[in-house]
Amino acid sequence: MTAMDTIDYARYDRIRPIRWTGDALELLDQRQLPFATLYVTSRSSDEVAEAIHALIVRGAPAIGIAAAWGVVLAARDVDAANGAEALAKLEPAMARLNTARPTAVNLAWALARMRAVLPSAGPDWRDVLEREARAIETEDLAANRGMGASGAALIAPGSGVLTHCNTGSLATAGFGTALGVIRAGVAQGHIAKVFAGETRPWNQGARLTVWELQEDGIDATLIADSAAAHLMKTGQVQWVIVGADRICANGDTANKIGTYQLAIAAKHHGVGFMVVAPSSTVDMATASGDLIEIEERDTAELLSFRGERTVAEGVGAWNPVFDVTPHELITAIVTERGVVQHPDAISMAKLFA
Ligand code: MRU
Repeated sequence: MTAMDTIDYARYDRIRPIRWTGDALELLDQRQLPFATLYVTSRSSDEVAEAIHALIVRGAPAIGIAAAWGVVLAARDVDAANGAEALAKLEPAMARLNTARPTAVNLAWALARMRAVLPSAGPDWRDVLEREARAIETEDLAANRGMGASGAALIAPGSGVLTHCNTGSLATAGFGTALGVIRAGVAQGHIAKVFAGETRPWNQGARLTVWELQEDGIDATLIADSAAAHLMKTGQVQWVIVGADRICANGDTANKIGTYQLAIAAKHHGVGFMVVAPSSTVDMATASGDLIEIEERDTAELLSFRGERTVAEGVGAWNPVFDVTPHELITAIVTERGVVQHPDAISMAKLFA
């Protein structure tokens, strides 16, 4: 029996943010959660690109999966005798999908996979694309389950953990990355207490993560982002566990804004810092974190709450939505290919060269 066999996935893995109906893509509208569970239907690749940009679907792996289905939708509007011919005709739609969000490498990775199957495809190239999109989704779920077990194995029984943003079923094909480790760790008794930061300004932690955990019957305690260092100082957490949007060749990791300050606080307090991400998030072509494009979003996210302005008129804001944690601050990167302890360019190359 493996560690994965001890996890009841029917209990711990019920939410699905992406549904392919056969002729349309249904995306769980994450702007409406937790009070409304509504799916938005996309019937074209441009609608998928807009859904990614608007955060209807979000989280690095989920963005990649949605983009892959976006290519399947784009294929509906293309007339081509074979995959090679289709490839050129699909390029504008794929370019628009690629620019929907800049930081998560899973988007470009998924589009590259969709491109790669076309040159050798014959007249059934549309079926080939659909099979590839399905494979991307299925492989992500399997990777998450594997990472859940190997991440949980690093955590001593009875530990407290803090997570940031939302890295769960909502952000992936299912089960989640960092949240998958937390699900597995709770199931196996390694994790006794879960804290989630609210993740200002979009509140992925407050609106999504604690809701997801509640759906599973996992007790989670919400904290203000600004309470994290105090939480660590009071000895209540032994690990910070986060996901990633891009992991560079030297282990530097881009993730939701606020991750970097959590890593600094964790180092100061002797708390472990675990990054959990599938190999589709690893970008060996980018040498270090200072080369990553950091998305900046509309300052309205910061100046308003649910459409209502909360800050005096005339006040400006700066809204970078990701930051980069230097590899020196990371205790372990957990992937489905293996765990990189104290990552650097050498240890990363051993697993991903
Ligand atoms: O802006 P978001 O909500 O897409 O940002 C998501 C994150 O930063 C996640 O931590 C990351 O994508 C990993 S999701 C498994």
